[in-house]
Amino acid sequence: MWPIVHDIVTEQQTFAYDPYMSEHDAKRMWLVAAPARVVVAAEADRVLGTANMYANRPGPGSHVASGSLMVAKDARGKGVGRALATDMITWARGNGFAAIQFNAVVDTNTAAISLYESLGFSTLGTAPGAFRHPVLGDVGLRIMWLDLRPPAQVTG
Ligand SMILES: CC(C)(COP(=O)(O)OP(=O)(O)OC[C@H]1O[C@@H](n2cnc3c(N)ncnc32)[C@H](O)[C@@H]1OP(=O)(O)O)[C@@H](O)C(=O)NCCC(=O)NCCS
Repeated sequence: MWPIVHDIVTEQQTFAYDPYMSEHDAKRMWLVAAPARVVVAAEADRVLGTANMYANRPGPGSHVASGSLMVAKDARGKGVGRALATDMITWARGNGFAAIQFNAVVDTNTAAISLYESLGFSTLGTAPGAFRHPVLGDVGLRIMWLDLRPPAQVTG
């Protein structure tokens, strides 16, 4: 997984992670402990992508899931991201989460936004200029949300 994570964090276009993180730091950050979950998408013995998923907040926020996904550059556009995101939704449903919240989707990340919208996520709001994109300058960070509850249970 490290080459994929390293490539994406050093690029600094899609995640607000430390671009200088070491492999050790990346392991601690990405490999969340059970009951949270980490998966890979693989073809033969090659890892094409990875996702992690967990409760978004502790205590009173722990009924909402969150997670992240990363696909190797040369494996994109072939359904790997969709498979990882669909798996995350299945995991969240199966574990009784009320919703999935992505906390910081970069507003210029059209691939991720199209993927999430196609799976039913909507944007709750955007923190303006909250992400310092190395090419495009300051761009927004979206909170994206997928409710998993039956409509009658959704309040507030
Ligand atoms: C976002 C990301 C995970 C998508 O993975 P992927 O394997 O390329 O996605 P898929 O091939 O499964 O495509 C799924 C959908 O994503 C959208 N999509 C993918 N690439 C796209 C692109 N270049 N432009 C616009 N939409 C795109 C489409 O809606 C596509 O739908 P389709 O299945 O009808 O074609 C991948 O681009 C990635 O790892 N990016 C860097 C890290 C990242 O941004 N992670 C998410 C942070 S919020």
